[in-house]
Amino acid sequence: MTETDFIPKPYSKQIENGAFTWSSPSNIALVKYWGKKEDQIPENPSISFTLDYCKTTTTLSFSKKENNDGFAFDVFLDHEKKDDFKPKIETFFKRIESYMPFLKDFYFKIETSNSFPHSSGIASSASGMSALALCLMSVEKELVETISEAFFIQKASFLARLGSGSACRSLEGDLVVWGSHDDIPGSSNLFGVKYPFEVHENFKNYQDTILLVDKGEKQVSSTVGHNLMHGHPFAKQRFEQANKNLSNMISILKTGDLKAFIGLVESEALTLHAMMMTSMPYFILMKPNTLEIINKIWSFRASTGSKLCFTLDAGANVHVLYPENEANSVLEFIKSELVIYCQKGEYINDKIGFGAQLIKEC
Ligand code: PMV
Repeated sequence: MTETDFIPKPYSKQIENGAFTWSSPSNIALVKYWGKKEDQIPENPSISFTLDYCKTTTTLSFSKKENNDGFAFDVFLDHEKKDDFKPKIETFFKRIESYMPFLKDFYFKIETSNSFPHSSGIASSASGMSALALCLMSVEKELVETISEAFFIQKASFLARLGSGSACRSLEGDLVVWGSHDDIPGSSNLFGVKYPFEVHENFKNYQDTILLVDKGEKQVSSTVGHNLMHGHPFAKQRFEQANKNLSNMISILKTGDLKAFIGLVESEALTLHAMMMTSMPYFILMKPNTLEIINKIWSFRASTGSKLCFTLDAGANVHVLYPENEANSVLEFIKSELVIYCQKGEYINDKIGFGAQLIKEC
């Protein structure tokens, strides 16, 4: 597939108005995407667990306008008008316009809400952009004669990527690969694909408790961080390492080797942050409590033989990953030893999920 495969033929049908509601989850990368070319083309492939609880629900209502001069839309978060969200959506619409030629024909009302608190430090761009991309695909489906389910998801992922790179991994579950990789058939830089190989029972229903260490706005946006990989002294090695880690992940997922899984996932998280610390300008997104938690996790693992591990995204919060059969003991540990490091003692219990859902169409 190339970009031009996503440009539709002239639409054969007409519609005046309607509304669609989709919910789409967040995802957490095991092998991280950090560094991109233009248009959110990743420098290396990544793989993520789709989450279940953390999601965005978006209703897109649309009505035909008199003219097709420009984009016309309003955005609401939890029923409150959010004009400060508009520039990001406007940029997204500009980027996808050639793939969605109907965008200027309608006025859109975008109403969105997140299952997780807005100021939790959890990025809503993956869930938010994928939910919006799916709503737009539902509109396009009304305008064309036929569209296969597979193409619908693929194009929604393609569009979501243009909104926010990692958003393209949120549409399906429970593991999604984005970025072309020799060992993964069908993998593409343009969209996410469902992980195509066997996955061991150990990884079924994997748990992710997100410890909210810092709920403030990030000091450095991921866009700025990605761009700092251009000319980064370790960029080449990092991209090679990510490719190798993804190859290794295939056998780990097949054999259920939790020890190797822990090593790979924690190394990926720390490497991501090492890239931030060694870029120019350099920056640190971890907080002292992030390190306290990591050390506690390591001691708990050493003393109990537990198979829990941590990962991080571009922030201070810690994702604690563990097999379902350890849920009780790990939650006890979190409550007794880790919650003190969370802002206001807050954390979110999540687990592996299966992707986006169409909630309503009318
Ligand atoms: O999708 P973006 O541009 O916000 O980048 C996300 C990057 C990480 O979360 C740090 C890693 C990843 O692969 O999700």
